Amino acid sequence: EREWLMKVAVDPDLCQGHARCWEICPEVFSLDDVGHGTVTVDVVPVGLEAEVAKAVSNCPERAITVS
Ligand code: F3S
Repeated sequence: EREWLMKVAVDPDLCQGHARCWEICPEVFSLDDVGHGTVTVDVVPVGLEAEVAKAVSNCPERAITVS
């Protein structure tokens, strides 16, 4: 089984507060006080990579990037 580190970020200039990231993976995403997506971890915990990938593809603004 391969292990790797997946980093994730939300671009605050692109985010429009659709909140799908948080609905899909609340372990990694949160919403700030104006409803914009934020990440609560620097590195995605092992086992949550697929959920984060789903959040990436479900963000209407394409505001989430992984590296
Ligand atoms: Fe923002 Fe996309 Fe999440 S618009 S709140 S990063 S689903």
